[in-house]
Amino acid sequence: MERTTAVIPAEDIARQNAICAEIRALNAERPVPPRAWVDTYGCQQNEADSEILRGMLVEMGYQLQDTEEGADVIVINTCAIREKAEQRVFGNVGALLAGKRRRPGQIICICGCMAQQPHAAERLKQSYRHVDLVFGPQALWKFPELFRRVYRDRVRVFEVTPDDGAIAEGLPVHRTGGARAWVSIMYGCNNFCSYCIVPYVRGRERSRNPEDILAEIRQLAEEGVKDITLLGQNVNSYGKDLTDGMDFPELLRAANEIPGDFLLRFMTSHPKDATGKLFDAMRDCEKVAPVIHLPFQSGNTRVLTAMNRRYTREQYLAKIQALRERIPDVVLTSDVIVGFPGETEEEFEDTVSLIQQVRFDALFTFIFSPRKGTPAAAMPDPFTREEKQVRFDKLVQVQNQISAEKHQAYLGRTLRVLVYTPGEDPRNNLSARTAGNRLVHLQGDPSLIGTWQNVKITSCTTWALFGELVQD
Ligand code: SAH
Ligand code: SF4
Ligand code: F3S
Repeated sequence: MERTTAVIPAEDIARQNAICAEIRALNAERPVPPRAWVDTYGCQQNEADSEILRGMLVEMGYQLQDTEEGADVIVINTCAIREKAEQRVFGNVGALLAGKRRRPGQIICICGCMAQQPHAAERLKQSYRHVDLVFGPQALWKFPELFRRVYRDRVRVFEVTPDDGAIAEGLPVHRTGGARAWVSIMYGCNNFCSYCIVPYVRGRERSRNPEDILAEIRQLAEEGVKDITLLGQNVNSYGKDLTDGMDFPELLRAANEIPGDFLLRFMTSHPKDATGKLFDAMRDCEKVAPVIHLPFQSGNTRVLTAMNRRYTREQYLAKIQALRERIPDVVLTSDVIVGFPGETEEEFEDTVSLIQQVRFDALFTFIFSPRKGTPAAAMPDPFTREEKQVRFDKLVQVQNQISAEKHQAYLGRTLRVLVYTPGEDPRNNLSARTAGNRLVHLQGDPSLIGTWQNVKITSCTTWALFGELVQD
């Protein structure tokens, strides 16, 4: 199989692993084992990247912890999708200064999408001098090499040059998801939706080889993982850079053949490339969960065109119909942006009507946030934040009503769920997920975590279902 995108040579990966061993040997001489904290913002892609960062830190001899308290190394894996995400990071990085003063040897690393933006990296360099290492997502694979320069040479390191990115296989991974796991199948994005920063910070689309993905899924299944999510910014573009490889529906079918009692999910699908071939694969593959996250962003075709989404309202609705013809009770979730520059009241009402027509199970609603360097940030934006907030509140209200009604329809039904974590409420000490990824709270023995159980749904709220175990 040939590819048009780059792969990091195996010897470069081996060099990173050797550096991990070198640092582990140095750390082993310390009287107390050193500790590291990795904090993650943003999407599942970042969560998956943090599992690699943790894997590398463990290989370097660090013990992982969930707090900055007393950490020898702090890694903050950042997000740049909206301004708020960025402000939170700067606030929290600023707050690390006091801790560093108490522990001058502490190493603070900032990575991820925010760090890849030149203006953010420059601000970290000039105004956050307690930060030692800054690198973007495409440099993740060489974290050990960059880290060693700080650890050994005590210099500040900035690795944020523009980078299309490559595929790196064979990096250590420290998974923390228990019965659930992420598997990245591709990286980057070529879509350049006019509001979005991701293509600028995550590089070009590139796919992992199918054999590597399938081997990873097989291994997870053998380890007893029950719920596997395949990740990419647009999984429907999978394989476009591989000649004689597989496309995404073919990859799903191949993964479905792997033995084991597990479910496959995927995110995210771009509607422009979600085809009948994908929906057929979802219908035919018993391991593929009957759920899809299909962001529509706006219900108005003029706005969709300005967003560079490359589908119309009618095309989106036709895709939903094609999907429901094949899988009538498919669980549908989506993303929507309110207040795109110039969006009129009538255009916003088209978004409301699309939500009412489709009736999503859940919706992630965002107010447009201008991102430096994207085309939408330079578009005239006559509506005020307050006006946008009014629309946002209306949308949330409409969706909450639908979500609540959808949950009501589960009452009395018995569903197979995966119990995956202890719950937060002592009366419902376990949390579970249905195949459609709906959250279910229940009471039961903690030994059930990691197992499939049948649960009768007894009550619900807008956001969750409550149920009782059914003994079979
Ligand atoms: N690759 C995914 C989305 C990743 S970002 C896809 O194409 O579906 C997740 C969501 O954040 C997007 O779907 C969009 O709704 C929202 N988003 C992205 N950029 C934004 C911005 N500048 N302002 C507000 N919301 C944004
Ligand atoms: Fe952003 Fe569009 Fe790419 Fe999704 S598909 S990451 S919204 S540019
Ligand atoms: Fe944020 Fe980067 Fe994901 S910008 S949403 S962490 S791809």
